[in-house]
Parts: sequence; C-alpha cells; structure tokens
Amino acid sequence: MCGIIAYTGQQPAAPILTAGLKRLEYRGYDSSGITVSARKRLRTWKSVGKLSALQASLPDTISGNCGIGHTRWATHGAPSDINAHPHTDTAESISLVHNGIIENADRLRDRLRDAGIQPVSDTDSEVLVHLLAMARREHAFTLIEAVRHVLRQIVGTYGIAAISNDQPDTIALARSGSPVIIGIGDGEMLAASDMSVLSRHTSEVVHLDDGEVAELTPAGFTVTTMDALPTDKASMTLSDNLNEYDKGGHTHFLYREISDQPETVARTISGRLDTRFNTAKLGGLNLQARDLLKLKRIKILGCGSALYAGLAGANLIETLSRIPSDAEAAAEFRYRNPVIEPDTLYIVVSQSGETFDTLAATREIQRKGGFVLGIVNSVGSTIAREVNGGIYMHAGPEVSVASTKAYTSMLSVFALLAILLGRTRDISPQRGSQLLMELQSVPEKLSTVLALESQIETIAKTYCHCQSAFFVGRTSAYPVALEGAQKLKEISYIHAEAYPASELKHGPLALVSKDTPCVIILPESDLLAKSIGSLEEIKARGAPVIVVTDSSQERIDKLADHVIRVPGADPLVQGLIMGVPLQLLAYHCALALGRDVDQPRNLAKSVTVE
Ligand code: G6P
Repeated sequence: MCGIIAYTGQQPAAPILTAGLKRLEYRGYDSSGITVSARKRLRTWKSVGKLSALQASLPDTISGNCGIGHTRWATHGAPSDINAHPHTDTAESISLVHNGIIENADRLRDRLRDAGIQPVSDTDSEVLVHLLAMARREHAFTLIEAVRHVLRQIVGTYGIAAISNDQPDTIALARSGSPVIIGIGDGEMLAASDMSVLSRHTSEVVHLDDGEVAELTPAGFTVTTMDALPTDKASMTLSDNLNEYDKGGHTHFLYREISDQPETVARTISGRLDTRFNTAKLGGLNLQARDLLKLKRIKILGCGSALYAGLAGANLIETLSRIPSDAEAAAEFRYRNPVIEPDTLYIVVSQSGETFDTLAATREIQRKGGFVLGIVNSVGSTIAREVNGGIYMHAGPEVSVASTKAYTSMLSVFALLAILLGRTRDISPQRGSQLLMELQSVPEKLSTVLALESQIETIAKTYCHCQSAFFVGRTSAYPVALEGAQKLKEISYIHAEAYPASELKHGPLALVSKDTPCVIILPESDLLAKSIGSLEEIKARGAPVIVVTDSSQERIDKLADHVIRVPGADPLVQGLIMGVPLQLLAYHCALALGRDVDQPRNLAKSVTVE
C-alpha cells in the first residue's frame, strides 16, 4: 500500500528519502518518486516499477535538505511514471504525496478544468496539488493555510505531505483516515506513514490524528486543527527493535518471521500467565471480572489472516467460556448495518493497527455505543489508540506481506483471552493450570515443527506445479485450513481453497482428482474417525493427500501420501501449532516457483484504503 516519507534538516534529503522508500517497499508498491527542494526550486524524479529503477534515474548528487518521497500502489490510474507521486502543479511551485482516496476527485477535476488547469495524470491525488497552487495564487496563503483551505473541499481519506519552493525547509502534513507519523530528530524532522521508516532516525514520534494538520521545519513542529487551533500532542518513545527490520541472515523476511515464531509466541505470552490464580493476566482490557461475567456474546472482526485468526479465536473462546462467539470480515460487518448490543464484547484484530476496514468497523461500533477491544501488534497505531481496551501482541515488526508470526501471536492472545474468560465461568483452577502449561509449552513445540522443514520442502517440490489445491479441516481445524490455503495462494499463486471436511461432498469433490493435492488437518480429537472418513473419500478420487496431524493412528499413514506429524497438544494451541507446517509448505512452493516471496503481486502489507 502507498507509503510516505518526508525530511527537513541539515543533511542531504535525497539519500534519506530513498532509504525511507526502501524500508517502505515491504508494504507493496508499483512505482515510486521523490521531490527535493533546493535554492527555491523543486526537482522531482519518478519511476514505475521497483525502487532500483528510480535510483538508477537519480543523479549522483542531489542538493537540498528538504524533500518528500512516495511508494505508490495504484488505485486510480494504472502504474506509470506520470501517475507516480510526488505530483507537482503546473508551475512546479508545490509538490505533494498522498495516501488514501479522494472520492470527489472527478468534480474537483472539472473545477480545475474550468479554471484552465489540465491535470496530466489519471490520479485522484494530482487534483490536490493544483488546488493548493490555485488557493495560494488566489488568497496569498502560506503552504499550511492552503492545505487547510483545500482539505475542506475534500471528500475521502488522506495522509499527505507537501512542500513548496518559496518555503524551502517547511513540510505541511495532514491526516484523515490514512496514517501520518512525525519523527522528532535533533535539528531535523521527519514524517512517514509507517513507523519502520522513522525508527532508524529517531525514537521520539508523534501520531497525527484525523483532522489534524502539521507544519515541520528543522527546528520543530506544530500541530493544529483544520481551524488552525493548536492541539496538544505528546510524543511517544518507540520500542521497536531495529534488528527486526532486517532478514537476520536469511534470504527472506518471510523465512525469518516463520523461524522466529518460538520466540515471538514466547514474547506474546510472557508475563501474562497468572500461575497463582491459574488464569491469564491482561492488563489493558479495561474490563473488570464483573464486566466479563455480564458478557452474552463475543464478536470478532478483522481482515485476511486476522479474520482467520479471529475464527480460530472465536472457537477457542466459545469452547472454554461457553460464551457464543463468532468472527466476521470487518468490511462486511460494517456495511450491513449491524445491531450493536451492550452485552457483546467486540474484538478487532489487526497486525498493523491501520487496516481501513477494521478501523472503520471499530468506529461504527463505538458510534453505536459498543465496547471494542483491540488485539494489535503495532504499538501506537490508529486502532490501538482508538479502541476502548487492548492487548498488544508483542510479535515485533512484521515485514513480509504474508502474515506468519503476527498470526501465531494473534492465536496466542486468543488462547490467553479464552483462558481468562473461561476461568470467570466454566473452568476449574486445575484445568486452568493445565491450560497455562499447554500455552507455555508452545514455543518448544514450534521449534520441533520447524525442524520438519526438509520433509515439508520435499513435499512442496513434489506438488508446486499443481494448478489447484484443497485444504480441509473440521471445526477447530477449519480456520487452520483457511489460513493454510491463504498462505499458499498469496505467495505461490497456486489456486487454493479451504473447505470444512463435511462440505466436501456438497460440491468440491467434483474437482478432486489426481491433479489436486489435498492438505488435510487432522487433530487428535473425538472427531478424528470422521475426519479419517473424509481422507478416504478424497483418496478414493485419486488425489494426493498430505496430512498434518498429531495423531499416531496407523490408518492415517496407510491412506496418506505424506504425513507431517506435529507434537500433540491441547485443542487450545493445536491450531496454532498445526498452522506452522502450512506456512513452510507455502514458502517452499513459492521459492521453488521463483516467486517474490516477501512482496507477492497485487498485495499490500497494510491496506489503509477501502
Ligand atoms: C493485508 C495483508 C494480510 C493481512 C491483512 C490484515 O491484506 O496482506 O496479510 O492479514 O491485510 O492486516 P492487519 O494489519 O489488519 O492484520
């Protein structure tokens, strides 16, 4: 998804901007560009394709200590040099980068045409820069005044950074719906849409809130409302570990993030196991035991892997606490005018804490008076700041587009929450104690699963040329199948579908053949015999079968072509453990097919637009 970087200070801006864009690469993009201001002149370079194409087009030295940069992920207008940001007005007096979507761009474009201004790109963003230039001409506004004036005419979402040739060290910023974070340096100031860009320069940051406008100069910053009233902004100190933004000696971030899971899960549960009362300690909930007792329902919302983690989480919570729980895609939920109930706990799940649909669902629930709990990874992100209570994942920054360590941390948080809610109702102290031990044993079991890599790599090489694959699971194994299919399709581009085992005979069996490998998730449970029945059904159609199981039943080995055997575990953490071989399977298929493992096509790490 689009990324913004801005710098003003004493150092040459161009290398800082390009290094910032490099860090933003992981979010997904199709073109990039920078503008640098020097000697009252703005110079812009833009290029479609990878950042290396932009870098190749830059002169060896670019003077100027103030500038803006952008990675674009096309929404309005195809990826091209012209559509890439920054956009400049006709006189090249203002340059602007924009994340978000201007919904009334067509009407504003007509207004520009009436004034004799012809935008050159197909983007909605370009209209902003012409409107800024027009406002300055007509009203002799400073840059920040023009920004306030123009943004009043905008319908849509934006995070913007703009510079002008006559205020050479000033950057104007604004936010409505798309993140902008200010980084405070020593004699220099930065801004970015993503914390990862700022963390190498400073540990002091300020998050802009919606409706705020900011002005940066090397000496400092001011934040005001759209009506130019000052707003009180406290800075926060970043705790990000810079080492987590590198590949840790591996070829891909994805591989590092898969391998790190024993540690990241350990971090998620660390300090949260209350062995005295045999329950979980979750300090940020802002809910007392009495509030938890009153809950009649739990509704979990998220997108992508966060939704699949939510489905698994709903299962865990309902099983252990007997509170009816379910999960739904955040966007679907908010658009169907849902009934918000006072005794329902709404839980939003998001790695980035910036996913537009999840944020919009949060606001819709709060507007109707509901209580929203956030399960978020990115500290200080918009969702983390807006929810009524929260649980941080502490998985550390996740860089690869495909979620792995954040997903297992989400499941770990759900396990903690399920124990806590369960202990307020159905679960005895003895059972609580067993569950805590199960959770504690997960990091070690994950290390055992990771050691199965060479077996999984061989399986991946055997089937990576298939056109289509099925993932099958029953009840708690179904969300595992969904996430497994998601991983395979997003990074290897193999078509993959997940089905509950019981649904096979109602449609998908028609497509099961020797050309469709089927991955079956078979946890040891009282449904195992039924699931083995599904295995037989699939085998009878000649499909190659890969089983992931913690059961030692010999029948499985007789029927399946490959058995990936993981350590046995309580249902509380079984799904979490069984998901990891599927991550490795997807990774090795993608690798064998020569895919761009960390930045799969058409996907973005953080989807901050609708
Ligand atoms: C994008 C990413 C997915 C992620 C989803 C939700 O689609 O590609 O990997 O699961 O967004 O992201 P969030 O940051 O809200 O967890």
